[in-house]
Amino acid sequence: MIVIKLGGSVITDKSSYRTFRKSVVSRLCREIKESGKDVIVVHGAGSFGHILAKENRLNDGFKDEKQIDAVARVCYDTRELSSMVVECLIEAGIPAISVPTGSCFYMEDRKLKIDDDYIIKSMLGKGIMPVMFGDVVQDKKLGFAICSGDQIVEILSDRLDAERVIFVSDIDGLYTSDPKSDPDSKLIPTVDKDTLNKIDTRTSVDDVTGGVREKMVTMLRMCNSKRDCILVNGTVQGRLLSLLKGEEVPCTRAKSE
Ligand code: IPE
Repeated sequence: MIVIKLGGSVITDKSSYRTFRKSVVSRLCREIKESGKDVIVVHGAGSFGHILAKENRLNDGFKDEKQIDAVARVCYDTRELSSMVVECLIEAGIPAISVPTGSCFYMEDRKLKIDDDYIIKSMLGKGIMPVMFGDVVQDKKLGFAICSGDQIVEILSDRLDAERVIFVSDIDGLYTSDPKSDPDSKLIPTVDKDTLNKIDTRTSVDDVTGGVREKMVTMLRMCNSKRDCILVNGTVQGRLLSLLKGEEVPCTRAKSE
């Protein structure tokens, strides 16, 4: 099983509220189908989640009644986004069902938990891809909290014993500095804890779940001798397909110690 996270930066325009990149998502779904691999897709929220979540401090948990309207609105927006992603998967020939994260998972002090994975495994057993996504999830300690797609990926990879995890983003991988502002920055093909500590991974886009550094930390935690963890650019046509086929492509691989 390969777990693929379609990042919010590739499926939406993160700087513009509720802007879906339909043609990019359709192409990525066709690439997944063409690879013939056993894949489960998780997606981020992008501008369907981060903008309102940040404005209303949803990641702080339940602080005042005014946040509740925003919780409902963000959940509405992420479900709409997920329906559009699922539509692209179905059009590509992949039977998929959007499964709102909060219907299977809950949180405890921002840690994502699942007691029963029956729904997910039952769908997979029938050849249906359950699609989960970054969302606002009920939190036993904080009332609610933001769950990132990366947290879902981490749990699913363990539960499904994934041999590979692929984070699809809008950059080729991890760079020595921000490639959008520094022309001299270089792609790092393999990353370990030491390399990560030495580089500058600040990004300019609003992001309530941490950006590139957090992604690398998650990737390093998730990879092991049996599981590859890779960051790849999904805005370049054919790159995800080549990676799935086992070809060499520009990307960053997390290296386990
Ligand atoms: C964020 O999920 C969820 C919300 C802000 C509601 P992610 O952290 O997985 O989303 P992206 O990939 O960064 O957009």
